[in-house]
Amino acid sequence: MKKNCLLLLSLCFFAAAPVVSIAADKSNPPDPALTLIHALGCKGCHRIQEDGGSLAPDLTQVGSRLTADQINSQLTAHTDTRTKGFMPSYSSLAQEDLELISQYLYNLR
Ligand code: HEC
Repeated sequence: MKKNCLLLLSLCFFAAAPVVSIAADKSNPPDPALTLIHALGCKGCHRIQEDGGSLAPDLTQVGSRLTADQINSQLTAHTDTRTKGFMPSYSSLAQEDLELISQYLYNLR
């Protein structure tokens, strides 16, 4: 039951995510990786720098814990049903998008 609530909650965040990017300064186009991160709703669960959720680890310093490759694997890890986390799998994303996101997060540290 609790799992269902969390899922619903994350769906709400997914729906709210585009609003965040519309609010971004249009004269200064955002990093494409950041646009993806907003569109995919990562901040529904994760804090990244100044904003985001607290359901999952803060990703601001993730680059000091994981390599870019490890971050990349995390994005698709949850197709494996043996893992218990509730992070969605982003295995349907193009490899280049996965790389954009993992490089961006890696370089934040
Ligand atoms: C529904 C909530 C949720 C969403 C949405 C989500 N994550 Fe996660 N994420 C988690 C949880 C929970 C963990 C920690 C345990 C695990 O692996 O499930 C995690 C772990 C991670 C980790 C490893 C962190 C560490 O310190 O080991 C990375 C990197 C990560 N997520 C990136 C992302 C990115 C990038 C997105 C968007 C594309 C995203 N997550 C979307 C819940 C979420």
